[in-house]
Amino acid sequence: MTTHGSAAQIMRELLEGPVTRSALVRWRRQQFLAKDGFGFYFGLFDSFAAARAWLPPNPEFNNDALATEYVEVRTQQVFAYDYPVMWWLDRAFRHGARSVLDIGGSVGVHYHAYRLYIDMPPEVTWRVVEVPAIVSIGRRLAAERGAAELFFTDDLGEALTSAGAEVWISAGALQYMEDARPGDLLKRSKEMPMHLLLNKLPLYEGDDFVTTQNIGEGCFAPMHVFNRDRLIRAVEALGYTLRDRWPVHERSLYLPGYPERSFPSFTGLYFAAEP
Ligand SMILES: C[S@@+](CC[C@H](N)C(=O)[O-])C[C@H]1O[C@@H](n2cnc3c(N)ncnc32)[C@H](O)[C@@H]1O
Repeated sequence: MTTHGSAAQIMRELLEGPVTRSALVRWRRQQFLAKDGFGFYFGLFDSFAAARAWLPPNPEFNNDALATEYVEVRTQQVFAYDYPVMWWLDRAFRHGARSVLDIGGSVGVHYHAYRLYIDMPPEVTWRVVEVPAIVSIGRRLAAERGAAELFFTDDLGEALTSAGAEVWISAGALQYMEDARPGDLLKRSKEMPMHLLLNKLPLYEGDDFVTTQNIGEGCFAPMHVFNRDRLIRAVEALGYTLRDRWPVHERSLYLPGYPERSFPSFTGLYFAAEP
């Protein structure tokens, strides 16, 4: 681990040493699989299939229970890492953007919460791509809250190839999709967006890898970690300019047994299509 400072980090570095490493990894594996392992990461895998073969069978994100915090808290509250997204989104709206594709946008959290902070044009259309369980809850919530501009689909392929959106948002989500590197999604889309806002991505300086995360309620998910420069270059190669990037200090990744693949913050990125 390249971070320095806290007593916990120093202790962790000591435990990662050759004498204690295997005991540490065994203990962390147990902790990861238990209820109090929520949020923890474990394991290094070649693919999502290999990660799924190792994980206990579970519905991953397609589980109603995972929506509770999103409905009750995240539709009404924003966090420090949301401000850059709201800033660029507000500018995009001021420059005439009227359609948003929000990939992995949960029950419409960004739509519901951001409109409390920025002026959303009344004619905006905001389309969320989600897993089926969350789509149902999001539609119900939109009806309850009178959000007629908010739409949901569980078909990413269809969303990419139907009428293009001027703004794409994806926060803390692409890493959980097997085949959704931003550059690849852009290539698959019928019309590429003018604005691409990516938040809470696990990016670092090393090689891409797959790990797993305990996502709560007895659920686990495979997750990609990406090399930062390669991901950025792949988007730039499609004609985008990286206009902003910010660290997301509220998210970090510690991978037991692999300090060189651990990092202290996630990343947010804003790309604009070149004129
Ligand atoms: C950590 S949550 C982030 C939610 C929200 N964007 C936020 O920032 O609060 C990840 C989201 O990605 C969604 N997700 C994961 N895999 C997906 C898939 N294959 N297709 C659509 N959505 C997916 C999950 O259901 C979940 O809502």
